[in-house]
Amino acid sequence: MTDASTLSHMNIKDMSRRWLKRGEGGRLHAENIPLHHIADVVGTPFYCYSAGALRDNYARLKAAVAASGVSICFAVKACSNINILAELARQGCGMDIVSGGEMARALAAGTPPERIIFSGVGKTRAEIHGALEAGVYQLNVESQAELDIVAAVARETQIRAPIALRVNPDVDALTHAKITTAKKDSKFGIAIGEIPALYAAASARPELRMVGLAVHIGSQILDLTPFRDAWSALAGLVRRLRDDGFSVERLDLGGGLGIGDDIQAGPDLAEYAAIIAATVGDLGCKLNIEPGRWLSGRTGVLASEVLYVKQSAGTPIAVIDAAMNDLMRPALYSARHPVLTDGPARAVEPGSDDVCRIVGPICESSDDFGKYEGLGTVLAGDLLVFDNVGAYGAAMSSTYNSRDLVAEVLVDGERFRVVRRRATIADALQLEQPEAWHSKKNPVG
Ligand code: LLP
Repeated sequence: MTDASTLSHMNIKDMSRRWLKRGEGGRLHAENIPLHHIADVVGTPFYCYSAGALRDNYARLKAAVAASGVSICFAVKACSNINILAELARQGCGMDIVSGGEMARALAAGTPPERIIFSGVGKTRAEIHGALEAGVYQLNVESQAELDIVAAVARETQIRAPIALRVNPDVDALTHAKITTAKKDSKFGIAIGEIPALYAAASARPELRMVGLAVHIGSQILDLTPFRDAWSALAGLVRRLRDDGFSVERLDLGGGLGIGDDIQAGPDLAEYAAIIAATVGDLGCKLNIEPGRWLSGRTGVLASEVLYVKQSAGTPIAVIDAAMNDLMRPALYSARHPVLTDGPARAVEPGSDDVCRIVGPICESSDDFGKYEGLGTVLAGDLLVFDNVGAYGAAMSSTYNSRDLVAEVLVDGERFRVVRRRATIADALQLEQPEAWHSKKNPVG
């Protein structure tokens, strides 16, 4: 992903290492299955994930941070399909959730509750109740007001609540403004200066078990310096709390580790792990991280068919059957995802620029994936594939314009299966069957 206004189409450089490969005739294969075959069976558009790549990513990250004993909780919001979650849960991965719905998904995927961390700035009473009943590992609390509600629910349920306070360390994650979460004016976390008093007061409440601190500074972080700053601040706070006589057993270091693409290199895992070790490694705390994008981002693509090609101001426009409702990131964050043709690019007319603008069918101008170079002559019926959309792709999809909710497919070696069927207009209309009218119970006057 990059914000460059035009992205070069490149053949994937590290094809041999990646699950998305070019097979016979240059056609794209997901592991060992031709994408066009999946398109024939499932129809387009569809997301396609590689089970093998997910397992590999988990194993690589786990190995990188093993020396500091870090456990990994996948941020469910990045890719919430229960079949994806189950793939990770089977490897021993925990889950970071931000709603009762995500908790239901994590549990349905077979995650043991003691591997679930409940984050989020606006948990409802019902969600807190459900989480305590389920026996989650910890709740990351983001305000005094939330702490009071958690304590009240803990009293009602007679279940002592394991609490980490989410710290706002006032660190700029040096990423897109909309996914920056730990600057002073952010809605997230508790200002670092307020933590000691709050931690002390909370430690005195019998309904609460203060287990530690959490931090999450933002997403798609490529420069690792902000992690160092945030975790150093966290370490300082742990020492201060311990000096004050409080126990701090656990540190949740958050997610945010970014991924590279063919334009920008991703961060170095060894360096990431070294920063963890250097900043919080010697505190004797049980550590965890909450990566979403790093684990699933590069394990998914979105395949779409070109419906029409038209011209606008001298540039060819490919109108595809995927739209901003299927992949919101370009419309929402001006994000760019590499686009691949299924087969070699066709030559363009001599003298023309090899540039093609890709748009979806939705009736607003933001439904525009941008201009791409090097795709060659694109024709109706072609399959175009957005790469690196396994995080915040399908998870953010909607049915805007009464379009179908996009299908999801999981490939594992020689096999594939639909793991979310395309939700159709029939499904949508079903939800809109009106219920009986309600009337005011106690009309006034
Ligand atoms: N932990 C917490 C508390 C979070 O809020 C998030 C993401 C994560 C972990 C995982 O962050 P990751 O490792 O995936 O960067 N929709 C945006 C991304 C929003 C991220 C929100 N929080 C996008 O498409 O870029």
